[in-house]
Amino acid sequence: PSKETTVCVAQVFRGTFVHSTLEDPLEVLDNTVLGVDKKGKIVFIEKGGDVKSLSDKWGFLDKDVRQLDPHEFIMPGLVDSHIHASQYSYSGTALDLPLLQWLNTYTFPVESQYKDLKFADKVYNKVVRRTLRNGTTTACYFATIHTDASLLLGEIANKLGQRALVGKVCMDRNDAVNDYKEKTEESSGETKRFIQKLMEKKYPHVRPIVTPRFAISCTSGLLRELGDIAKNSNLHIQSHISENKEECEMVKKLFPDLKSYTDVYLKHNLLTDKTVMAHGCYLSDAELQVFHGTGASISHCPNSNISLCSGMLDVRNALNHKVKVGLGTDVGGGYSPSILNAIRRTLMTSKALTIQNPSHQTLTFEEVFRLATLGGSQALSLDSETGNFEVGKDFDALLVNVCVPEGPMDICGPEPTKVLLEKFLNLGDDRNICEVYVAGRRVVPFADKAS
Ligand code: GUN
Ligand code: FE
Repeated sequence: PSKETTVCVAQVFRGTFVHSTLEDPLEVLDNTVLGVDKKGKIVFIEKGGDVKSLSDKWGFLDKDVRQLDPHEFIMPGLVDSHIHASQYSYSGTALDLPLLQWLNTYTFPVESQYKDLKFADKVYNKVVRRTLRNGTTTACYFATIHTDASLLLGEIANKLGQRALVGKVCMDRNDAVNDYKEKTEESSGETKRFIQKLMEKKYPHVRPIVTPRFAISCTSGLLRELGDIAKNSNLHIQSHISENKEECEMVKKLFPDLKSYTDVYLKHNLLTDKTVMAHGCYLSDAELQVFHGTGASISHCPNSNISLCSGMLDVRNALNHKVKVGLGTDVGGGYSPSILNAIRRTLMTSKALTIQNPSHQTLTFEEVFRLATLGGSQALSLDSETGNFEVGKDFDALLVNVCVPEGPMDICGPEPTKVLLEKFLNLGDDRNICEVYVAGRRVVPFADKAS
């Protein structure tokens, strides 16, 4: 057989793989061989593949083959499509107020501290390490209004090897905490500086995302400028939408001429196929149609939605409207920095909707597995690079062992892979996530011991 000498296979994994495709929310690939090149791209994936003939074809050596144990499988890395890195410092606390009071009381005073780069360095290192350890290979971050601290978050994600979209937060309207806001020109000017500085670094997996905080904290003038910036440079966009009823009422008052909350972003050129909007609990069917039409996506943040008593997104209805949906932790409105927790809250929210309305079609664990992986990559328009195991995509993956000593669950007999995955999604934690890969590079366990 002809050796394909142009491709150099650097790593080979052999064992069980699970992932999602567009057709199938859970595809189990038992007895499969997967090869990764030096750049971290998947070069082959063969079910029932014979190592001998594959090594003849691709020219790797037996010692390059990583053979998985029976209680191990490899799954795509988890995608957190909405997380506030800056709120990690107080996550797990301050969950006793509804959204607008919560922002004024806890969030804005903490976020204003990130003008101090030392504080930013400390928290941002912790949040990137924690999320990587929890299996988040791709994160879409809100930082704060501070450009230099936001650049630091990008530097840290790059250093630790996480794939990330990083947003410098924009807000030129804030009545509660007067020094935590910007002038309109300052906000758009600093956004341009942030984008330019971050792009200059040429980090392979870290990119900027245009980040108006939400309609309430931005004037029409700022929204328009940010829409223009995103359009001119074909950039990603993130914000919040229809999270809480009081917020929706306030948006109506602030933008009386516009038809809906969705219309506010649409009219300012902020709804594109590279836009991800967090929450969306109260979007109407007509608004979901606009999401579908523009290609904008929703980040479903169920822990936050329940913790702040915001609402319950009907994910089934969004999917029926062919809207792209990913999962988000929304740390610190959501208290957990783990997408495994977001998976469980998504299932619980869907079941609560079924309790309220028995004709509601409950999400299955396989569907939620897809939302946490491929769905997230689609929601962030990164699905050409990551989200599942396809030749040409980057190898972003978790090596899961469901039987670690002192682990969080027991396996009481021989079980099919599908059962092992379901157990892990419902009962597993970071102890089961033995290795984490981003673009073929092993990023967990960390090379150093610091945490
Ligand atoms: N809406 C505007 N800002 C925020 C925030 O920081 N967290 C949440 N959950 N919603 C928001
Ligand atoms: Fe949020």
